[in-house]
Amino acid sequence: MDYSIETAPLEELQCDCMIVGVYQDRQLSPSALALNNSSQGLINNILSRGDIGGKNGETVLINAVPHTQIERILLVGLGENTPLSGKNYKKALLAAINSLKKTQIKSVVCCLAECAVIDRDWQWKARHIIEVFNDVAYQFTHTKSDKDTEIKLEKIAIAAPENERALAHSGLLQGKAIAEGMTLTKHLGDLPGNLCTPAFLAEQALELGKQYDSLTVKILEESDMAALGMGALLSVSRGSRQPAKLITLDYQRGEKNAKPIVLIGKGLTFDAGGISLKTAAGMDEMKYDMCGGATVLGVLLAAAQMQLPLNIIGLIPSSENMPDGDANKPGDILTSMSGKTIEVLNTDAEGRLLLCDTLTYAERYNPEVVIDLATLTGACLVALGRVASGLLGNDDALCNDLSAAGETANDSLWRLPLWEEYQEQLKSNFADMANVGGKDAGTITAACFLARFAEKFRWAHLDIAGTAWRTGQTKGATGRPVPLLSQYLLDRAQQSD
Ligand code: BES
Ligand code: MN
Ligand code: ZN
Repeated sequence: MDYSIETAPLEELQCDCMIVGVYQDRQLSPSALALNNSSQGLINNILSRGDIGGKNGETVLINAVPHTQIERILLVGLGENTPLSGKNYKKALLAAINSLKKTQIKSVVCCLAECAVIDRDWQWKARHIIEVFNDVAYQFTHTKSDKDTEIKLEKIAIAAPENERALAHSGLLQGKAIAEGMTLTKHLGDLPGNLCTPAFLAEQALELGKQYDSLTVKILEESDMAALGMGALLSVSRGSRQPAKLITLDYQRGEKNAKPIVLIGKGLTFDAGGISLKTAAGMDEMKYDMCGGATVLGVLLAAAQMQLPLNIIGLIPSSENMPDGDANKPGDILTSMSGKTIEVLNTDAEGRLLLCDTLTYAERYNPEVVIDLATLTGACLVALGRVASGLLGNDDALCNDLSAAGETANDSLWRLPLWEEYQEQLKSNFADMANVGGKDAGTITAACFLARFAEKFRWAHLDIAGTAWRTGQTKGATGRPVPLLSQYLLDRAQQSD
């Protein structure tokens, strides 16, 4: 994709389609007004037919624009003529890009950055346009013979006035970095489990390290993990023919002594459940159980491309969870790297076994904060659906920062309590704790388990089981929460300026 900011008058710009906004009651945005004037009132003519009234999300594609050089105009309804909420702005952008499906449009000039959005500047608007357009234009064709995509978009230009050029341009660079991060995350998520194995994920990380000097990637093998005493993590891969990998990424662009932000992503490349085997329906979707890990890679790509002045560590414990003669069995007792013992009451609660040893490993980085991302519990889908990711943590300031970043990025979180009353549910008669806490409050008890390994630092856990991918007809990875975490890092970088 090619991106640019254009400050010339619209009539002078070459593209397949101009995207302009229309407010409710047929009020024209400044760009719509300009195009209306240069096309002898075409837009007003079309509005008077009543095909589009200006409600948010409506669109009309005008396929011929007489008396001008303009190929096409896409009218996009914005709703009431007052500053839009961030969500409504995204809704309008989604409508715009979705209406380009099945057209031959390759290049657009998007004039929607001029519309006012509450508390947001040109930088945010330019960034958001790029993020949303790229997100919708993405299509997974890697394993299809026909590589044709529904959206043919190759060039996105954002119209801006000269005095906003600098802000819009920096938003464009941010948007491009975040969009590329999301594309990587989605691509890895959509790849099937037979191609995207722990070894493959490790190779992808090493590849990323080659692309960016600021990024150093090292892979810990099973023998290294055994030497570290990672008995919980290694117990998960015992039932699989694919060796586990602990991928470590070290991004250093902050002050030399600045403590790092540690991001940990669950990288379970296929979760069959192990001996506590899952049911058949929808099991294919467990190829997405590595989306936390893929998010860490996407976020580090974005950070490296934006050259954020931060120190960031990415840790991705990667394994399969399969049933096998050597697999974990219910009742087995493991000794984690921390020394704490764990009774495995359900081998399908494997994510926390990977994460607990990785949390202990994170101690050696003396972290500023630790944030883990995991498709951890089906219960999170019951609690929050596919709208918000779950947030739990031991530090209010960190949780508030993450929630705020989620709102800014249109990639929301909702916090659940981590009260010690819930810890009761993890009692085991035979070990320091059980790996499951019964059927009640499954997302919370999973986080309670993790909390026991995160006592030495400020920590937050994002349960992305409902948000990392879509199910049904539009099944596919979403790239969430790359936007949220990128925003969090941008906010942190601004603080450290
Ligand atoms: N990867 C799954 C969680 C999951 C399930 C995410 C469905 C998205 C959709 C995780 O490893 C798992 O199996 N969790 C169990 C935990 C239970 C055994 C306590 C679950 O949610 O059923
Ligand atoms: Mn599982
Ligand atoms: Zn899992």
